[in-house]
Amino acid sequence: MKRIGIFDSGVGGITVLKEILKLFPNEEIIYFGDNLNAPYGDRGVSEIIDLSLKITDFLVYSEKVDIIVIACNTVTGAGIDIIKEKYKIPVIGVVEGAVKETLKITKNNKVGIMATTATVKSEVYPKRLKEGISEIEAYQVNCPGLVDIIEKGWEDTEENFRVLEGYLNKLPKDIDSLILGCTHYPIILDEIKKYFKGNVIDPAKETALSLQEVLELNDREKVGKIKFYVSGEVEKFREISEKILDLKIERVEKIKL
Ligand code: DGL
Repeated sequence: MKRIGIFDSGVGGITVLKEILKLFPNEEIIYFGDNLNAPYGDRGVSEIIDLSLKITDFLVYSEKVDIIVIACNTVTGAGIDIIKEKYKIPVIGVVEGAVKETLKITKNNKVGIMATTATVKSEVYPKRLKEGISEIEAYQVNCPGLVDIIEKGWEDTEENFRVLEGYLNKLPKDIDSLILGCTHYPIILDEIKKYFKGNVIDPAKETALSLQEVLELNDREKVGKIKFYVSGEVEKFREISEKILDLKIERVEKIKL
């Protein structure tokens, strides 16, 4: 049985955890949501890296994980190479999976990317997409405030829909694919689909699939366990996570790193 460490700035990474659980129900999983410091997307690169290294130190040295999944586009864009360099274990981010799927799916090579301010600035998506198909046109829209709304628990208010529609309206009408470049956004997939009718790409599935390349077959005899840690608010995190996973979460531990 392997120990998989997964982290994000909050509940976003739970969308990745959900897909991982479908493929690897028998592993030990340790999830860390840094919701005290969310949103990461409004922070500078060095701050994002410092916060991430504290979490990865905790996962590697205290929780003894065998593999790390960075279930956050903002961290992947800001410093996956730094994290990969520091540890001797496999480190997987979310951007590769989203890019891989997009390259397969786009027909007109016009792609939209919804993301946090830091991810947009990192240009990680346009760069990686163009490495795959050089003539691809990548249009990014940064969505400040959206992570906060989702961390609090999305509500179908006029104001929330206005914010979401405003962001999506900034993208050209002829894109055929839209990358959800923040793991929080798949939580409001149904709401996004009200405004965008093309292909919507959620990196979670491809990310889970890429774990297969580094994990051996499960020990089917044992049932895996999931441990949840947060740095801030516990109850909202539990409520949203239970809804996404359709699972009762007995314990969420709040810790200070
Ligand atoms: N889920 C993170 C991501 O994929 C959220 C970023 C944030 O905290 O702003 O980028």
